[in-house]
Amino acid sequence: MYTSQQRLQWLSLVIFLVSLFFNIHTSYGDVGTAALHSPPYLPTACYGSDESQFPSSNLFAAASDAIWANGTACGRLYLVKCITTTSTPYACNQNQTIQIKIVGYIGRAPFAHSTYNATMVLSNTAFGTIANSTTGSSYINIEFEQ
Ligand SMILES: *[C@@H]1O[C@H](CO)[C@@H](O)[C@H](O)[C@H]1NC(C)=O
Ligand SMILES: *[C@@H]1O[C@H](CO)[C@@H](O)[C@H](O)[C@H]1NC(C)=O
Ligand SMILES: *[C@@H]1O[C@H](CO)[C@@H](O)[C@H](O)[C@H]1NC(C)=O
Ligand SMILES: *[C@@H]1O[C@H](CO)[C@@H](O)[C@H](O)[C@H]1NC(C)=O
Repeated sequence: MYTSQQRLQWLSLVIFLVSLFFNIHTSYGDVGTAALHSPPYLPTACYGSDESQFPSSNLFAAASDAIWANGTACGRLYLVKCITTTSTPYACNQNQTIQIKIVGYIGRAPFAHSTYNATMVLSNTAFGTIANSTTGSSYINIEFEQ
């Protein structure tokens, strides 16, 4: 028979493992869409015409209202991964996850970037890294995480 102290230890172990599972589970990112944003990139809503705002990787993006949060999204880093669906099986350049920096705002209709219905618009380099360029699609499905 277990003593009540042993039972308590088992119980805390189980609670710990269950919470670990849910933590891992919820650490999967949000799902959205991304579109290609071609140059010019300046000025941006976050940093104006300052050239030094762009990371040297050239992996950056403009945020839609889904993540813009009234400008507090500026400078945030997101891990972004292209995901395929049954209707777009070849949309992605496989196994590529990139880290992008938010530098701009897509805007709101009717004064928005033409792809304002995407969650974010990616720089040429960013889009080209995770999307399959041979499909020529201007939208991809993404999983993203701050
Ligand atoms: C958004 O930010 C501006 C300037 O930082 C501020 O004046 C405004 O009240 C904010 N709006 C909301 C809805 O938080
Ligand atoms: C990219 O798309 C082409 C068809 O447009 C397909 O043949 C190729 O397998 C795709 N690449 C990947 C990595 O899915
Ligand atoms: C993607 O990653 C998986 C697991 O790491 C690997 O088995 C697969 O070959 C990779 N595919 C490509 C196209 O690199
Ligand atoms: C965005 O809107 C365009 C034009 O209405 C449409 O073709 C496209 O499928 C939409 N994309 C998404 C991700 O909703």
